[in-house]
Amino acid sequence: MILSPSILSANFANLQADIQMVNDSAADWFHIDVMDGVFVPNISFGFPVLKAIQPIVRKPLDVHLMIVHPEKYVERFHAAGAEILTVHYEACSDLKRTIDQIHATGMKAGVSINPETPVNVLEEILPFVDLVLVMSVHPGFGGQKFIPESIAKIQELRKMLNARGLNAIIEVDGGIGLQNFADVEAAGADAIVAGASVFSSANPKETVSKLKGLL
Ligand code: DX5
Ligand code: ZN
Repeated sequence: MILSPSILSANFANLQADIQMVNDSAADWFHIDVMDGVFVPNISFGFPVLKAIQPIVRKPLDVHLMIVHPEKYVERFHAAGAEILTVHYEACSDLKRTIDQIHATGMKAGVSINPETPVNVLEEILPFVDLVLVMSVHPGFGGQKFIPESIAKIQELRKMLNARGLNAIIEVDGGIGLQNFADVEAAGADAIVAGASVFSSANPKETVSKLKGLL
């Protein structure tokens, strides 16, 4: 399974050390949570932080936009080094157009759904996305508890993709740690995000290896 540690739970007073840890670990991507205080009730970070980490990250940037009007910033996130750009279904007035816009830059395009959004709303967009990000907590904060109903959504999405012969990546985000990553994988996920469970653990690099099933 692909593992994307969320730097939202990193130590921002010494971000370089945590970036280095992820670089040296078995993790696959960096998960970058951008929040605008409008789409979600929290503000995280934006372009200056991405610009600062761009020269030191050695793994793809998996950028999760929790912002309204994501279409306005596609170009800038591309310039800031994003390799995968994921927008929220709930935040897009013309989702297909935004996905096309992301692809036009050469980035991979993802669509995310909130816990209360059913997977069937994705029916039409599925053939056009590279990744579906299933939120397993209410977006806005790290360190929340995994919503158990997410498992059925992952299973349903896996069936939808298989039935259509599509190979979009299913990524699951929120409340995932050593206690439940195997359930998420068994439900059909290809990728998991892990914030608090990695950065708040006593040995983050070892936790990454365990989440990757290597230990
Ligand atoms: C929540 C973010 C998540 C969050 C995950 O809004 O999208 O990526 O950082 O953090 P944990 O793993 O701590 O739930
Ligand atoms: Zn996220």
